Amino acid sequence: MTTNNTVGVAEHTLFVCKTCASVWQDGKRVGESGGQKLLNELQQLAQDWELRDKFPIQEVECMSACNRSCVIAFTGKGKLTYMFGDLTLDNSASAVLECASKYYEQAEGLLPWSERPEPLKKGILARIPTLPVNN
Ligand code: FES
Repeated sequence: MTTNNTVGVAEHTLFVCKTCASVWQDGKRVGESGGQKLLNELQQLAQDWELRDKFPIQEVECMSACNRSCVIAFTGKGKLTYMFGDLTLDNSASAVLECASKYYEQAEGLLPWSERPEPLKKGILARIPTLPVNN
């Protein structure tokens, strides 16, 4: 069944790849991946984030940027979609939420280089145009 009812559907989402920076041995993952650690840190920090109910964190298996781990993406209804890579575990989580807050405030989701926190100044992998809005 299809429906146009969007009640309960988040208008923003922070995607986090939980497979990034995995160590593999004999076809099996060893220990916790870097992506999982980043995800855990983001979920922990987001508990005190004022946007936590409006900007849910969604874990994903892979966003096909595996050689640029760790990888996250911001998407929002009527906004540009951004994907960032090369995120390290030391200082990325708070920067990702800070950047998500800026993204949330911008009507089109524009994130100019100069306004992004340091860990997200480099490593941008994609800026995908907004879907046309049907009136
Ligand atoms: S494993 Fe993270 S993007 Fe593929």
